[in-house]
Amino acid sequence: MDAEGLAGLLSAEGQELLGTVAGVELSTATELALNNRLRRAYPASMVAAALELTQLRARARAKFDRADHMYLTREGLEQASAEHISAHRTRRYDPYGTVADLCCGIGGDLIALAPGRDMLTVDRDPLHLQMAALNAAVYGAASVRTRCEDVRESDLAGVEAVFIDPARRHGGKRALRESEPPLIWCLALAERTPAVGIKAAPGLPREAAPPDWELEFVSVRGDLKEAALWSPPLATVQRRATHLPGGHTLVSDAGPAVACLAPGAYLLDPDPAVTRAGLVEELARALGAWKLDPEIAFLSLDTHVSTPFARLLRIEESLPWNLKRLREVLRRLDVGAVDVRKRGSAVDVEELRRRLKLTGARRVTVALTRMNGKPWAFVCSDP
Ligand SMILES: C[S@@+](CC[C@H](N)C(=O)[O-])C[C@H]1O[C@@H](n2cnc3c(N)ncnc32)[C@H](O)[C@@H]1O
Repeated sequence: MDAEGLAGLLSAEGQELLGTVAGVELSTATELALNNRLRRAYPASMVAAALELTQLRARARAKFDRADHMYLTREGLEQASAEHISAHRTRRYDPYGTVADLCCGIGGDLIALAPGRDMLTVDRDPLHLQMAALNAAVYGAASVRTRCEDVRESDLAGVEAVFIDPARRHGGKRALRESEPPLIWCLALAERTPAVGIKAAPGLPREAAPPDWELEFVSVRGDLKEAALWSPPLATVQRRATHLPGGHTLVSDAGPAVACLAPGAYLLDPDPAVTRAGLVEELARALGAWKLDPEIAFLSLDTHVSTPFARLLRIEESLPWNLKRLREVLRRLDVGAVDVRKRGSAVDVEELRRRLKLTGARRVTVALTRMNGKPWAFVCSDP
């Protein structure tokens, strides 16, 4: 969609058309027939824009509760923060009444930041900027000033706090080099406005955070989603792992080193936000668990615990890694299918599955790892 397409959809005729196609399930077969019918009543370009937006709104329901009223481009939706993540981040801005959202895109963060505040909203893409303001209004924002410009040119006078989500490609460490504006520029914003939050790729190396900033990694139901850097006025700890949607949070905390001991009754497989934030020892101390190897994030303990920060598995067998022995154990346990978790193991999982040739009835988890430097395997089930 382009600016003209959006203008058409915002007209009275466009709104009527959007109302007509709302809720229609669009498949390749139905879309053609609907397209033909609608083109008798509305301009072809308006019909194309309405159908495209309707499809994007359906897809956007995975990220936004009010997706059916939002304005989106495919790229803008892909780059947008999901509503529950931006809502989580926005709590840090509670003390601030005037906030800038730099690089706002279609407003995935703006919708959470804007209600109840004066917002300065900047993007150099005029279409996304306009959509961001429309979407913020859908979420009840009343005071959004938009500026279509390079954020490097933005005058931040009067702004009390800044949020920036620079453009980046998905792709781990490359994202550091490739963010636009670069991370180094985003960090320097704190020299102008001390309260700064920066959204970053989840592959961000921990060393990228200046010593007095907080680095937060966020996972949603065990999937690592993103990192955020918080300047000192917004920071409360050095490192944090947050688990959504529950909002559980684990923070860095100095304490005695966690011992490496023999496996107990259970294996704990930490959430990726915990491992990325370097909080495995904090998790072990909080749960009374221990390590199995100084370099590996699997933990073990003897008691059944329930935590959002790790998957708990009951250890059925513990053995040095050896394909033949593992196959014998799995056959004895009547296993027909395995889920494989690897930490510190170079075993090829597909090759392993092929060579196990299992025929039993049960499904188990095989954890491949190292224990005191030696390749090791655990056969585990749900507790
Ligand atoms: C990752 S997206 C932002 C997504 C947004 N936070 C959301 O949740 O919808 C990055 C945005 O940065 C904008 N951008 C990149 N470099 C910019 C610059 N130098 N000045 C202004 N905007 C820029 C792009 O146009 C893009 O819309």
